[in-house]
Amino acid sequence: MATARACANIALVKYWGKRDAALNLPAAGSLSLTLDALTTVTTVRFDDGLADDQMRLGGAPAPAAMLGRASVFLDRVRALAGITSRASIDTINHFPTASGLASSASGFAALAVAASRAAGLDLDDAALSRLSRLGSGSAARSIFGGFVRMDAGTRADGEDAVARPIDTAALAARVRMIVAEVGGGAVKSHGSRDAMEHCAETSPLYAGWLAVVPRDLVAAEDALARDDLAALGEIAEANALAMHASAIAARPAIIYWQPATLAALAEVRALRAAGRAAWATMDAGPHVKVLTTSDDAVAVAQAMAAVAGVTAVTIAAAGGPAEIVPAGAA
Ligand code: PMV
Repeated sequence: MATARACANIALVKYWGKRDAALNLPAAGSLSLTLDALTTVTTVRFDDGLADDQMRLGGAPAPAAMLGRASVFLDRVRALAGITSRASIDTINHFPTASGLASSASGFAALAVAASRAAGLDLDDAALSRLSRLGSGSAARSIFGGFVRMDAGTRADGEDAVARPIDTAALAARVRMIVAEVGGGAVKSHGSRDAMEHCAETSPLYAGWLAVVPRDLVAAEDALARDDLAALGEIAEANALAMHASAIAARPAIIYWQPATLAALAEVRALRAAGRAAWATMDAGPHVKVLTTSDDAVAVAQAMAAVAGVTAVTIAAAGGPAEIVPAGAA
């Protein structure tokens, strides 16, 4: 048995599209910030007495689809460890699940760390990142803390599709992300896995999206190297809008935004015009996350909370790597 905690991460240069669906290999790289305020704690216990895998989410039986995905993931861990025992999984998300707040990232990172340890494996961070990726592409990044770069890799076996931390201690200490929830944390309209496939197949803007990502990655890493949050924020906001533009142009359209999403985006622009550090990003859901600084975090959070339709606001700092924690840890 083992218990692990992982933080969610929010991409500043998004992963949106796969080069291999079976191995869950991204079509392009991505760059993210791991967040301390959005955590998952997962306990895995392999038990020869169990006939099937079991999963509880927040103390209640997990939905069948979630158990199914976790069970397929555990099969990979069992194959690596050479064991056949079924397992019980107990997982708690300290934020809304499957609403576009990156619960799959922290969820599969925590599951990879807890399950591999419980199965007797001793995997290094790169191996944990590759394993997490098989559950969810964004989870590969949640193995690491702070700013993280995920590589698409070129190998067919995906061994080089792995995340690594970017050494930016100064900026990682100063940066904050304001998570403005829209729609009360309702389950998102299209899961990211199906949505990105639908975009790749039908969106006339998908090729343009894929062309922009490598340029944004270079510019974002350059901004990080220069400690330039404004440059990073501008890239992040433009990159998120490009991802959503490709989704909106899919046929039929995938529109994650609600009216309050646009109101929140307008507020971010107003904050910027007033001299605040504030740049928006959005994932596969209606929520708006605002990149800012420790100096401006409270003012930005208050402004976002005042937007009609924003139902909750959280201030997050850079989070640490996924790790084993004592059983019973929150
Ligand atoms: O890892 P997935 O399948 O949950 O996809 C993540 C997709 C986005 O959140 C929209 C972008 C990203 O890079 O996290």
